[in-house]
Amino acid sequence: MNLDQKRILLTGATGGIGSATAIKLAEAGAHLVLVGRKQDKLDALKAQLANPGQHLTITADLSQPDGLSTLDSTCRTWREQGIRIDVVINNAGTNQFAYLSQRLGASIEQEFQLNLITPVLLSQKALGWINRPGIILNVGSTFGAIGYPGFSTYCAAKAALHRFSEAMQRELQGAGIQMLYLAPRATATRLNDDRVTALNDALGNNTDQPETVAAAITTALRKESTCTWLGWPEKLFVRLNQLLPGLVSSSIRKQHSRITEFVSKTL
Ligand SMILES: NC(=O)c1ccc[n+]([C@@H]2O[C@H](COP(=O)([O-])OP(=O)(O)OC[C@H]3O[C@@H](n4cnc5c(N)ncnc54)[C@H](OP(=O)(O)O)[C@@H]3O)[C@@H](O)[C@H]2O)c1
Repeated sequence: MNLDQKRILLTGATGGIGSATAIKLAEAGAHLVLVGRKQDKLDALKAQLANPGQHLTITADLSQPDGLSTLDSTCRTWREQGIRIDVVINNAGTNQFAYLSQRLGASIEQEFQLNLITPVLLSQKALGWINRPGIILNVGSTFGAIGYPGFSTYCAAKAALHRFSEAMQRELQGAGIQMLYLAPRATATRLNDDRVTALNDALGNNTDQPETVAAAITTALRKESTCTWLGWPEKLFVRLNQLLPGLVSSSIRKQHSRITEFVSKTL
């Protein structure tokens, strides 16, 4: 898709990957709808973008039914007024680094809600107002393809988001809407608390800057790439885990005591 003057709705816009993506897409000539929980943060981001007068904001907590309804009704009203959305990027996400035995039920529900249920429901609502041709892009994770200790429910939510995206890409054949999936590897944002950053350093894991992910999202939209895995050797491990999961398990087994050490630290 040529992104010039396309209207792109971006959730999690004020986060690390979200704000870098907003900057990149605005530079490409897109007109954005920035979605976040705090109006002052949305206004500050909007002021930083190319052509700030072209961008709109929606304040909504997308983990709540009210937040999704607000977003849906705003987009419907705009459509009646001639403001049409060409692309939806489901980017808002959350996780908590902890073993399952350490987790509270409410935090598990919140993680599934924001990483899986919210993008599914927002995609469903978007089918009612998105322009054709249109694109819905879901931001997943390498952990959606590799089950990793300390992130079990996040891995599960992102794996389901991947499968949802694949099924919808096939279901929407001929409908004029593409559903794409893009999976970053570890990225330097506040999603990762100090323990996760220290663990990644200790294990020698690669970490991308949010600008790298923003560039990949922009390319995926331009090329309409169905599925994008970021990073080398992470994309090799994704394939290896499908074909020979025992090999990946034995490599992660060697990291287990390190992971336990960091997951047990208090923040
Ligand atoms: N960072 C990584 O290592 C990494 C790796 C792979 C995939 N990802 C994925 O990339 C996406 C962006 O993550 P990030 O790294 O940019 O994290 P981030 O900096 O923590 O940003 C997360 C964004 O989600 C928003 N959000 C959280 N709870 C929300 C809610 N209830 N309603 C609406 N928005 C909410 C946050 O809004 P506020 O600004 O209002 O807090 C923030 O804008 C996520 O889907 C994440 O799973 C990240």
